[in-house]
Amino acid sequence: MITGGASGIGLATAQRMAEAGASLVLGDVEEAALARAVETLRENGARVVGVAGDVAVEADVVALREAALATFGGAHLVFNNAGVGAGPAIGTPKAVWDWVMGVNVDGVINGINAFVPLFLEQNEGHVVSTASLAGLGGVPGMGPYCASKFAVVGIAESLFHELRLSGKRVGTSVLCPGFVRTRIHESERNMPEDLRAYNDDPTVRAIGSMAGDAVKAGIEPRVVAEAVTAAVLADRFWILTHEHAAVRTTEQRAAWMGGGDPPRINLEGATKP
Ligand SMILES: NC(=O)c1ccc[n+]([C@@H]2O[C@H](COP(=O)([O-])OP(=O)(O)OC[C@H]3O[C@@H](n4cnc5c(N)ncnc54)[C@H](O)[C@@H]3O)[C@@H](O)[C@H]2O)c1
Repeated sequence: MITGGASGIGLATAQRMAEAGASLVLGDVEEAALARAVETLRENGARVVGVAGDVAVEADVVALREAALATFGGAHLVFNNAGVGAGPAIGTPKAVWDWVMGVNVDGVINGINAFVPLFLEQNEGHVVSTASLAGLGGVPGMGPYCASKFAVVGIAESLFHELRLSGKRVGTSVLCPGFVRTRIHESERNMPEDLRAYNDDPTVRAIGSMAGDAVKAGIEPRVVAEAVTAAVLADRFWILTHEHAAVRTTEQRAAWMGGGDPPRINLEGATKP
């Protein structure tokens, strides 16, 4: 089961998993894009159903589990991938913070609650949750996004330790990519109607345009899908598609905590593997 399966990293992972023989349940809030993704995957021979819904709504994520059980008789791999970004730390309205946190954090929580008890019961399963390099170090212009992705890293680490203590054959991974060539910089397409005027703000537009340039310079979603597949097969926790940047960010923060200078943020460094 893959949330946000209609575009970008989710769609590329769906294609990769279908090639590996998996049956797929794709969730997405964008109904037309979801229908197109399902059709294309079916044309390529995949066994796939699409279920439209919002990951921030618990019942919608439960419906994804029920679709997997009803259609394929089981579920073994959940990819909490749907995500959105908007706004800096200064001046972003609370309703926009709530939207980003709802999709990026509640979406992951709902995925864990819907699938992990089933996985523990059957003593088999794996949960992948998507964070970001923005979950390993703060970045200007991305307050809500960083908050949500730090939360995802924290949830995933907790889940890892709890699963290990359970002694069950259930694994978990956290995906922390740098920039990937997807539609993430056009997240506002899925914003609730009453928040959309926010995107007319010149500062918001300027940040969006910088993020768009970095996304376009990023790696292909297919490369991320390969890394996700390899990590699931190897039962590896950290999925660092931009390993150099991830390690450097972490080392720079540690040096800063130890009294050193704050890191100099360079978005270009987060485009390269
Ligand atoms: N592209 C990057 O540079 C990058 C870097 C780091 C992390 N990520 C993360 O990767 C994940 C996938 O994003 P992407 O880059 O493929 O972007 P994308 O916009 O191409 O795909 C995201 C998908 O999530 C769906 N979605 C949005 N809100 C939803 C909701 N409420 N319920 C269900 N589905 C919803 C969208 O319709 C879309 O199909 C996100 O969590 C994102 O934060 C992306």
